[in-house]
Amino acid sequence: MGGESVAGDESPSNGSRNEVFAQVLQSRMSRRALLQGSLAGLALAYTDSLVPAQAKDRASPRFVALKPSIEDKLLVPDGYTHNIVIRWGDPVMPDVPEFDLEAQASGTQALQFGYNCDFIAFMPLPGSLETSSRGLLVVNHEFTNAELMFPAWDGRRESKTRAMVDIELAAHGMTVMEVERETTGRWHAVRTSPYNRRFTGETPLRLSGPAAGHRWLRTADDPTGTLVRGTLSNCAGGITPWGTVLSAEENFQAYFGGSPAGIKDAQVKAMYRRYGVGADRYGWSRYHARFDVRKEPHESLRFGWVVELDPYEARSLPLKRTALGRMRHEAATVVLSRRGYAVVYTGDDERFEYIYKFVSARRYNPANRAANLSLLDTGTLYVARFRADGSGEWLPLVFGQGPLVPANGFTSQACVLINTRHAADLLGATKMDSPEDIETHPQTGKVYAVMTHNTRRTPEQVDPANPRPHNRHGHIIEIIEEAGEHTATRFRWDIFIACGDPNNPHDRAYYQGHRDVSWFSCPDNLVFDDRGRMWVTTDGQPSTMQKNDALYVVETEGPHRGKARMFLSGLPGAELSGPEPTPDNRTFFVAIQHPGLGSNCANPSSRFPDYRVGIPPRPSIVAVYRQDGGKVGD
Ligand code: FEO
Ligand code: CA
Ligand code: CA
Ligand code: CA
Repeated sequence: MGGESVAGDESPSNGSRNEVFAQVLQSRMSRRALLQGSLAGLALAYTDSLVPAQAKDRASPRFVALKPSIEDKLLVPDGYTHNIVIRWGDPVMPDVPEFDLEAQASGTQALQFGYNCDFIAFMPLPGSLETSSRGLLVVNHEFTNAELMFPAWDGRRESKTRAMVDIELAAHGMTVMEVERETTGRWHAVRTSPYNRRFTGETPLRLSGPAAGHRWLRTADDPTGTLVRGTLSNCAGGITPWGTVLSAEENFQAYFGGSPAGIKDAQVKAMYRRYGVGADRYGWSRYHARFDVRKEPHESLRFGWVVELDPYEARSLPLKRTALGRMRHEAATVVLSRRGYAVVYTGDDERFEYIYKFVSARRYNPANRAANLSLLDTGTLYVARFRADGSGEWLPLVFGQGPLVPANGFTSQACVLINTRHAADLLGATKMDSPEDIETHPQTGKVYAVMTHNTRRTPEQVDPANPRPHNRHGHIIEIIEEAGEHTATRFRWDIFIACGDPNNPHDRAYYQGHRDVSWFSCPDNLVFDDRGRMWVTTDGQPSTMQKNDALYVVETEGPHRGKARMFLSGLPGAELSGPEPTPDNRTFFVAIQHPGLGSNCANPSSRFPDYRVGIPPRPSIVAVYRQDGGKVGD
């Protein structure tokens, strides 16, 4: 497709290992990002004549949409099947013990697949002709559910043992794992692959960019403020055009306990309030001083960043990119602007928080991968303001500009980035209904941002971009950057979908006027397939619909624009996340996150995927494919 010819035009024919590697990545891996860059200019001029012929051919997906379910069974449409690729506790390397519920240990868990898989990146192997039959899965492990991991636990935080806490730390983080498709369409993990790695809550990572080394990021363990133990609460993420993975640290605040009342630095204390740090949801602070804010007041400031990981370099240290700001990052979606700048869209997933984007100072260089590896260290972070007339602007978070000056506590760009939320408050950004994933359309360049829900918005607090009070069902906003250029500081926007039941006037739902849809609620993750169809997972339907969360395909252009059809129905308690197609669109990987949430080991609401008495549900990656080998969703 177009992406490959773009890469071919710009790639060098000579050169170093890195240059060759860059060619491979561009031609075989980063098709989506390249398409977004090369075709973004179509955004404003999008007309039916510009719709790719293949998109016109399909009136709507041909599979028969599923109905909402409460079954403890993953449902796929007729003609489709799925297999479990890897589950919590499965070995990621050779010679690692198999999952044993009664013999869990942190050292073993650190080499086994982690808990609560969320984001999935599929990365073809460099040098391989098989771009869709072999590759690396890079998977996030967002959090742990001790009540579903430890049968002997009584459920009280106070009775968690050190061993349990250390297993939880080891079950967080990320996994890199090679996977391979069999001729039948099934996928399996390749445990012997040299690329396989685990990153946990204890693995070293470097801080880089403008805030690295700042005094707020220094701790007793790390007086340099540059070397962090672990990555936590990794939610959604993205793939860069230069073949790295971005992972968003989201609910970091929940890991820290102890009152910040005794902290002497008033600004640090204020940040604790603004970011909601101190819930000690997991009880880790009893055993690890760094999670007790009284003992280590700066440790929490080293979380809430976007992590960049190079899965192809087995010895590389992941980096926390401070230039992208500190918040409860949900997403980190990368697109190249037409002029070659790297743009990262990201949202802060909490009620009344903001949408951001980062624009690199330097351009992407298709001939020099090494140079691209520092692109996300220098640039401008912006926050969005939506206006009632359908326009909007990206407000720069730059030290010295506007209110971001010493009188307001900002003495450097590092201060702005560490205290991003306060900086965005002062700029008057628009308070959104819990921003989750953000993605750019591969053909039109339009940007789609998911607001999952916000039942706390009062009628007095509604605004045009968050138009429903007590927003139970969430909505998806469509943003068109000025002149289709992702670096633009102005945009137009509209509500693409207001979720809920379009046949229930109380919901005030909107699917571009369609009523005959698989209506959905609490959208969370997004991805686009090779035909420009939006795939949406949900996180919250058990409470709003009394049905399992699910995966939907949504048309974004043409007469069926706004129509949604249910493609997968998940398990009790589970959110579906990370949907990720292979480049040939013949497989979709989906993460089954927190099956059985709300229950416990003694009486789990789901026994997916083992369905064996005595074995609790296990978060898993599934591969979904058509039995006839065709493209998924056709
Ligand atoms: Fe981890 Fe905002 O979902
Ligand atoms: Ca999410
Ligand atoms: Ca996504
Ligand atoms: Ca969520």
